Amino acid sequence: MSRLLVRDLAQLVSPAGSGAPLRGHELGKVEIVTDAYVLCEDGRIAATGAMRDLPAGLGDLDELDARGLVAIPGLVDCHTHACFAGDRVDEFALRAAGATYEELHAAGGGILSTVRATRAAGEELLTEAVRRHRGWMLSAGTTTFEAKSGYGLDRDTELAQLRAIRAAGGIPTWLGAHAVPPEHPDADRYLDFALAEVLPEAAQIAEAADVFLERGAFDAVQARRYLSGAADAGLALRLHGDQFTEQGAIPLAIELGARSVDHLEATGAVGVAALASSDVTGVLLPACALFLDRPMPPARALIDAGASVALATDFNPGSSFTESLPLVCSLAATQLRLDPAEALTAATVNAAHVLGRADRKGRIAPGYDADLALLDAPDWRYLAYHLGHDHVAAVVLAGERAELG
Ligand code: NIG
Ligand code: FE
Repeated sequence: MSRLLVRDLAQLVSPAGSGAPLRGHELGKVEIVTDAYVLCEDGRIAATGAMRDLPAGLGDLDELDARGLVAIPGLVDCHTHACFAGDRVDEFALRAAGATYEELHAAGGGILSTVRATRAAGEELLTEAVRRHRGWMLSAGTTTFEAKSGYGLDRDTELAQLRAIRAAGGIPTWLGAHAVPPEHPDADRYLDFALAEVLPEAAQIAEAADVFLERGAFDAVQARRYLSGAADAGLALRLHGDQFTEQGAIPLAIELGARSVDHLEATGAVGVAALASSDVTGVLLPACALFLDRPMPPARALIDAGASVALATDFNPGSSFTESLPLVCSLAATQLRLDPAEALTAATVNAAHVLGRADRKGRIAPGYDADLALLDAPDWRYLAYHLGHDHVAAVVLAGERAELG
């Protein structure tokens, strides 16, 4: 049996309770133990508590001296596009000079420029890229990550992306409806191809399917067709919705029983009320809104209306080139008016819920996976407070101290 005792923690912090998702005012409830320990056994958390209650005679085990550190659950990034080749630094410079994301997309750049680079890369390079990005995420405290395909849009590259994500330890989502690639005359004909030629194998590798429901991408009729096909093949459902315009993503997500609708920068009062009274989680991506200089999503209104919300990076080369959930928590506090406890819950157990893993991930409690981020800070709220800082002194992954790059 492998055992690790993380001892003498200044603080140990975990979302309260045992259910998921936490919604409304429950989102802000965290449990804090000072001068604490976490005992990990065979990759799971066996016990937690105050050092004064540490049982005697634990026998042979490895110890991690965590004096001066605070433990939070390993962060869970439930929305990334971490499998890509190339970059969009030229486009970034054009945007700085005034071009918009949607203009670049309409001109065949944007997502399609990453599609060209990703198709040319091959599976080995893609796997290396996801591993490299996973290392960045781990150094920022992320121990569980989802990643989407959607930069292949042909059969071989979509499947290669999904395999590369799995090989690098990610949870793959098939984003087969991200954009219409140039070899297809229109979105309907492209979906004919994707559903017939890619879905059967994608469904063997991915856990969920996702669609970009937006003007210039896929409309609600097309999104319904794509998602219904994916659900029939056994996949959970996600949507990119209300990023620039409201096109019916929230009602469609509710109708189809999707796990989440992500972005929501353009969501109005009707959408807020509908989402809040549903079981669909709203995934907020404030780093994307910042990176594109777009309005922030109505996070406070969603939480106050009782919605389930999660936070994620949307890490990708075009609209959100950051792997840092601590930065996202800072943006949540400063731009979305979440308090640090709400941000922590949204980036841990609620994000795990979106990935169907809230029974194992996102809390520091007996029975959960022993995934911890140890922050070099006097108070756990520095996670959101110390903007842009590299807080993470150590990461425990499945009960073992991880090598950070
Ligand atoms: O979530 N909006 C659609 N998809 C991604 C961006 C992907 C890209 O620009 O490469 C997003 O922002
Ligand atoms: Fe995205």
